[in-house]
Amino acid sequence: MCGIVGYIGRNDTKEVLLNGLEKLEYRGYDSAGIATLSNHGVDVFKVKGRIAALREKVAEDDTFSNMGIGHTRWATHGAPSVENAHPHQSASGRFTIVHNGVIENYQDIRKQYLADVNLASETDTEVIVQLVEVLYGELNDVSAAFRKAIELLKGSYAVGLIDAEDQETIYVAKNRSPLLVGLGDGFNVVASDSMATLKVTDRYLELEDKEIVIVNRDYVEVQKLNGKVVDRDPFTVELDAMDMEKGTYPHFMLKEIEEQPLVIRKIIQEYQDENDEIKLDENIRRAMGEVDRIYIIAAGTSYHAGLVGKQFLEKLANVPTEVHIASEFSYNMPLLSEKPLFVFISQSGETADSRSVLVKIKELGHPALTITNVPGSTLSREANYTLHLHAGPEIAVASTKAYTAQIAVLAILAVDTAKAKGLTFDFNPLQELGIVANAMESITDLQEEIEQMSKDYFAETRNAFYIGRGMDYFVAQEASLKLKEISYIQAEGFAGGELKHGTIALIEEGTPVIALATQENVNLSIRGNVQEVAARGANTCIISLKGLEQEGDAMVLPKVHELLTPLVSVVPMQLLAYYAALHRDCDVDKPRNLAKSVTVE
Ligand code: M6R
Repeated sequence: MCGIVGYIGRNDTKEVLLNGLEKLEYRGYDSAGIATLSNHGVDVFKVKGRIAALREKVAEDDTFSNMGIGHTRWATHGAPSVENAHPHQSASGRFTIVHNGVIENYQDIRKQYLADVNLASETDTEVIVQLVEVLYGELNDVSAAFRKAIELLKGSYAVGLIDAEDQETIYVAKNRSPLLVGLGDGFNVVASDSMATLKVTDRYLELEDKEIVIVNRDYVEVQKLNGKVVDRDPFTVELDAMDMEKGTYPHFMLKEIEEQPLVIRKIIQEYQDENDEIKLDENIRRAMGEVDRIYIIAAGTSYHAGLVGKQFLEKLANVPTEVHIASEFSYNMPLLSEKPLFVFISQSGETADSRSVLVKIKELGHPALTITNVPGSTLSREANYTLHLHAGPEIAVASTKAYTAQIAVLAILAVDTAKAKGLTFDFNPLQELGIVANAMESITDLQEEIEQMSKDYFAETRNAFYIGRGMDYFVAQEASLKLKEISYIQAEGFAGGELKHGTIALIEEGTPVIALATQENVNLSIRGNVQEVAARGANTCIISLKGLEQEGDAMVLPKVHELLTPLVSVVPMQLLAYYAALHRDCDVDKPRNLAKSVTVE
């Protein structure tokens, strides 16, 4: 979703801003822009479409500037267009702003304060910058006008504002939208995500909601809305800038699919102590031991990982577990148990729907554990406990390695909880995950075959179905999300037994139906479901597990523990979707209409 970059220093700002925006491309956007300030005033460059076009536009101008702000926009208020792209300027052109988030009361502000102002865009953002100018007219002090404007806003925002008459300051504020200030030597930066500016600094200041920051070349001052100055230590981001490059891979998605065995091995290493036992924060262990019910909250792919996690937590650790879609839970909370623990699963740690639930349950006094790939993220900071996925940056919008990492960490958590309760069983997740990593590797070696399968099943089709039972049903749901989000083929994942209750009516001559058969207890039933659709003309394909295979299966996956089959069966599903998108000339890493980090509700 929208991304912000700002720079104030002594070098040319344009490259820092453009490079930063390129690093934020993965979040999803439909227009982009930068504003630079120099002795002759503010220059604004904006385009609808890609950063590459913005680069070309900026290259036409050779003005030197050593401060500026940049933005990638994912449209919410107003269509993607140059007029609606950020930065936006006040009527006189004195103030220029970039904003991420949604201003809920922008219509009220417009009526109350901006009745005489002609707005140039349809955005809620423009209202902020016009408000600053109107308030400046009353207060005659930029800092006070900015503060007052921020106080009047309702909703979510991360903003960066520059004043054409001040080459020393970027004004920054944040509420419910991610924003960091990066510290440098003789310069400072502002970014939605440290990935944007990791090339120039690895030291960052976290900002809390409703804080204002005065960012100068040589200092940064964090203030509360009441003006109280806050003293905060920076943290160091331990990311290698190379992790964010795709190297020789044509797409980040393919790189990330292939990284999965490495990620699983990294998780084993991070969660194993010197006696080869599970290593887990004692506080988490204690919290898990005290709960009577777990509520998993997540969205999209993370929700699908939660469905698998529920099986681990109930079957292994005996803890009743519910899995909820974050956006639904916010306004439709079920009756809670006496001692609930909320487990937030989120690759980015920034998903606004999940954050909204976290805020609510914190108000109710319930504990929260976040399982995330980004330890310094909002969901991590605001929960009581965090478990890190150690998957490395996931750049492709379609989540792959984060999904398998989430399942692996949930398995470890469930077994640790079970052991702490004295439950015994013959399942060592660390050992079993090692077997999984090897199995994943042998599947990614089969890319040619999977590419051919993708052509056979998806080349012409407008729709596709995935079916499974038990664990396979959860993977079927994830498989269909992968296919639809990057190839735009209408796809659904169904429980095999449910087809005859309605969906089977959709089966026509040639409809692709991909079935997973990795669960022994339902192996024959799912094969029966395949027969049912084949009899009605479906183009069927069965992917089974070694030991359960039958003649004619399209692929036989290496044997892994039955509970961990989603970790291997999802890999061919990811590759099938990847090749389907590739052959349809879709933008694999940046599918239309989607954002990587969904920071609006
Ligand atoms: O960062 P999160 O895991 O909280 O994101 C949740 C979903 O937006 C995300 O999983 C989305 O569904 C992916 N694009 C799916 O590939």
